[in-house]
Amino acid sequence: MTCKLLFVCLGNICRSPAAEAVFQQLVKTQNLEAKYIVDSAGTGGWHVGGKPDSRMIMAASKRGVNISSIARQFKLEDFNRFDLILTMDNDNYETIMSLAKKASFKDCALIKPILSFARKTKLSEVPDPYYGGELGFEKVLDLLEDACSELLKELEERF
Ligand code: 4NP
Repeated sequence: MTCKLLFVCLGNICRSPAAEAVFQQLVKTQNLEAKYIVDSAGTGGWHVGGKPDSRMIMAASKRGVNISSIARQFKLEDFNRFDLILTMDNDNYETIMSLAKKASFKDCALIKPILSFARKTKLSEVPDPYYGGELGFEKVLDLLEDACSELLKELEERF
């Protein structure tokens, strides 16, 4: 059985592609690739078809994480295609929850804020790094490394 995870942010060029890549890296190092399918999407469509933000790619590559996804916008079928949808901030969460209410799919993915899994922070949102400096991208990765490793641990205990 595979577990299908979708990470969601606003633009799908900074936080959710980073989350996808951090989670995928953990899956790879633990030889769990047959068990997990990961993807990411944005609630907004401005960057559709574009590469991830070069600052995010750079910060992640320094940690050995390769970000390579192409931006796409969240679509209603995603509720059916994924088991778990992980949002980066309150705005993404509210958008996805209100779409879920409208969509009313029979087999709807579980929707959770990614930082509900984090252990090392009291933050409930991954801050948007887009208009800030380099440190913002490091902070995103610190938060995602913590949350994704706890998430994988929890999923492995269940499946
Ligand atoms: P993301 O960051 O949601 O983490 O991909 C952003 C990227 C672009 C914009 C906002 C946030 N934007 O306004 O274009």
